[in-house]
Amino acid sequence: MKIVLLPGDGVGPEVAGVARDVLMTVGEIYGHKFTFEDHLIGGAAIDATGEPLPDATTTACQSANAVFLGAVGGPKWDGQPKRPEQGLLGIRKALGLFANLRPTRVFSCLADSSPLKRDIVDGVDFVMFRELTGGVYFGEKKREGDRASDLCVYSAGEIERIARAAFIAAQARRRKVTSVDKANVMETSRLWRETVNAVAKDFPDVELEHQLVDSMSMNLIRHPRAYDVILTENMFGDILSDEASVLGGSIGLGSSASLGAGGLGLYEPVHGSAPDIAGQDKANPIGSVLSAAMMLRFSLGLGAEAEALDRAVEAALEGGARTADLGGTLGCRAMGDAILKELRRATP
Ligand code: IPM
Ligand code: MG
Repeated sequence: MKIVLLPGDGVGPEVAGVARDVLMTVGEIYGHKFTFEDHLIGGAAIDATGEPLPDATTTACQSANAVFLGAVGGPKWDGQPKRPEQGLLGIRKALGLFANLRPTRVFSCLADSSPLKRDIVDGVDFVMFRELTGGVYFGEKKREGDRASDLCVYSAGEIERIARAAFIAAQARRRKVTSVDKANVMETSRLWRETVNAVAKDFPDVELEHQLVDSMSMNLIRHPRAYDVILTENMFGDILSDEASVLGGSIGLGSSASLGAGGLGLYEPVHGSAPDIAGQDKANPIGSVLSAAMMLRFSLGLGAEAEALDRAVEAALEGGARTADLGGTLGCRAMGDAILKELRRATP
């Protein structure tokens, strides 16, 4: 099984290093052979080749079973014509990764690290399905004199495929989908709502509710336990998923999977490049480790291994292992080692 690693910028290489160690250990313990190939993306790729997404990177990803991405971006590339983020947006588009899954699960032992009260966040467990290849991100962008515009475009087909993925996921969970839009203002949102309603007819066992994005942003912190699967378009999902990431105590815990129609997926932590702590061994690798677990589950067909990894993370946290973002003293590598220790302890 070929895994392409795209370490990228900032803390990306540090957390990607932990993801690789963890996957290698899973391979050793369970007898799977993973091969790793490193490629350039983002600012690192601009520095080396002039392009945020070199062709060699795209080609390598297309022939891989799964891709792990660290992070892209940083102040170093501000104001330049080519932006590191183009690498990330480009690879999502090139691989047809239209479904971005961002789970939020609050670990009980961390509930007191949350800025919200324990009785609000304890037991929170939802997954966001963010549409990833359409909307304002990919519509026409224009600048004419002192005016600028970004076009927001969706087709019914683009909405339908992400909606279907969300409903299928809900069937295996608590059977509730909350679709988020701005149908009181935006035409793309009205199409979104109609299409989601049509898809829902095929899933009579799943409850569907619609929420406007502004009140959803409020409800998400008022009663986050009310949600199971949250389905939304690209930009709303970008914003709401950052909001969701603080519920569990730190954005360093957030993991994500970006999936397309086939088995190939791209897995990345939610935290981004964190240039302020880059190169200091301070990043929390848990977002990366949980992303690696999703890789095992969704692209490599190794569900039991994924569960073992999820459990190892929880056991390390329950044992008191904490990086600085959670008020602890462990560095990125030491936190990774604490998880590896639990993984080895729990498995023959
Ligand atoms: C994310 C990020 C990206 C996005 C940026 C880096 C382009 O914020 O993955 O949420 O907006 O999608
Ligand atoms: Mg974002």
